[in-house]
Amino acid sequence: MTRKGPSWILATAVGVLALVGIAASATHYFWEPYNPAFLDFPIVTALHVVLGGIYLILAPLQFVSRIRSRHLAYHRRVGRLLVAIGLMVGATALFMGLVIPFFGWGERVIIGLFGTVFLVALTTGFLHVRAGRVALHREWMMRAFAVGLSIATQRLIFFPALWIVRVDELRVRVGAPYTRAAVTEWRA
Ligand code: HEM
Repeated sequence: MTRKGPSWILATAVGVLALVGIAASATHYFWEPYNPAFLDFPIVTALHVVLGGIYLILAPLQFVSRIRSRHLAYHRRVGRLLVAIGLMVGATALFMGLVIPFFGWGERVIIGLFGTVFLVALTTGFLHVRAGRVALHREWMMRAFAVGLSIATQRLIFFPALWIVRVDELRVRVGAPYTRAAVTEWRA
């Protein structure tokens, strides 16, 4: 296979996954939230959902070499914005995962780990570019993006996995719209 082949496959996969994450953000307010605690912390939740969607719209373009080489000022400006946005997404993710987790300690451990790696990768990528280490900057920004993308799109794996192990509860939970009653039943 030529080099062009795999890179197009990768770009398509990333594009599709990013669209899944963006769709999750865009449709979040269409349903009653499955986690009632989102309603207790509307600003934290809104910051996470809205900024997460913006991150997934803008971040993939940062990896397009043609945009970087032809519009470096754009890459820099949006890059700084994305670091600020990413820090907010990571910080709110840690709050949501550690303080108001829907799945208890399992979620605390997973989000504690992934949220920390996301923030560390983002910060390390930023520090590298400030020091002029462009190759390392690119590597760490890819790591941050990969973690963000994986968490934002974990629904693709998570819901089928739940379906395999607990069909009845999944039917209750994904039956639209989510309801508090369904959540109570799910937890019981
Ligand atoms: C980068 C783009 C991201 C997007 C677009 C995104 C999107 C969302 C959305 C829409 C929700 C609300 C739940 C829903 O409606 O399904 C949510 C919740 C959440 N996200 Fe993210 N997210 C992103 C990144 C992250 C990262 C990097 C982490 C942590 C590593 C994270 C951790 C969480 C947690 C813990 C919740 C609450 C889950 C719960 O307990 O109910 N997110 N996210």
